[in-house]
Amino acid sequence: MNAPEITRFTASGDGGLTPAMRAAYERDGFLVLDDFFSPGDCAALIGRASALVAGFAPDDVASIFSSANQSALTDKYFLESGDEIRFFFEEEAFAPSGALKQAKELSINKIGHALHDLDPVFSELSRRPALGRVAQDLGLATPVLMQSMYIFKQPRIGGEVVCHQDATFLMTEPISVMGLWLALEPATRENGCMWALPGGHRGPLLRRFVRDEGGVRMDELTDELTAEGWPERAGAAYVPIEAGTGTLVVLHGLLPHRSGANRSDRSRQAYALHLVDGSLPWPADNWLQRRPERPARGFAKP
Ligand code: FE2
Repeated sequence: MNAPEITRFTASGDGGLTPAMRAAYERDGFLVLDDFFSPGDCAALIGRASALVAGFAPDDVASIFSSANQSALTDKYFLESGDEIRFFFEEEAFAPSGALKQAKELSINKIGHALHDLDPVFSELSRRPALGRVAQDLGLATPVLMQSMYIFKQPRIGGEVVCHQDATFLMTEPISVMGLWLALEPATRENGCMWALPGGHRGPLLRRFVRDEGGVRMDELTDELTAEGWPERAGAAYVPIEAGTGTLVVLHGLLPHRSGANRSDRSRQAYALHLVDGSLPWPADNWLQRRPERPARGFAKP
């Protein structure tokens, strides 16, 4: 089956966007910029993530994921990861005994959520002026880096990411979150590329993930969700956003998007940053919170 073509552009180098690029983002809710980062930049992040995993002792947290207290402890490990570098496993990584079923390098789903602040290699790339320029050209006046995720999408066991809007997880009033998703390896339909609903960002926020006394909960904000999960607005259908190494995809915070499981033999590694407008208050019931001594920061002034 042939999928509809998406509009794609070649990055300019300094991050400056043309009127056609801005128009595509306004229309579709996403913008694809090929060759935004060099193969060398991508290889450096892959190497750094690999080193972080090598230095991570899964035994320290395996008990968290396998103990009787599982959900409370897992929630705590996740809820306190907003200003830390933490490792999250694929859902089926553990045997009933609590041991990993395969090597840790092949078991980790993602690393989050403050690589961009705490790791020098990730921090340097995350704060390249070209990224700040993209965000500002697309309407984010005071971009602040709120969250980073290194996503492995492991061969064969890489799990799907169900359809969502990023504003569900990172709320400001008004909504300002913008995703910057960088392909570190080719992303194809075979290894679980992203899919998005063009124009879907013009719809409302459908859900909100909030922190409460008991941990976290998901609030339904409208009754628009269908039995299948998400409406297809204006006759639009989800389109695959295939990407080569170094492609940057910018995502509007209200754009419905998802990615499939990876049943192929190749990983689909990616690095995602989420920016918000730093002039807006950060709600206390967002799941992601940072300690006062580790404030979210923006881009260095040139
Ligand atoms: Fe997302």
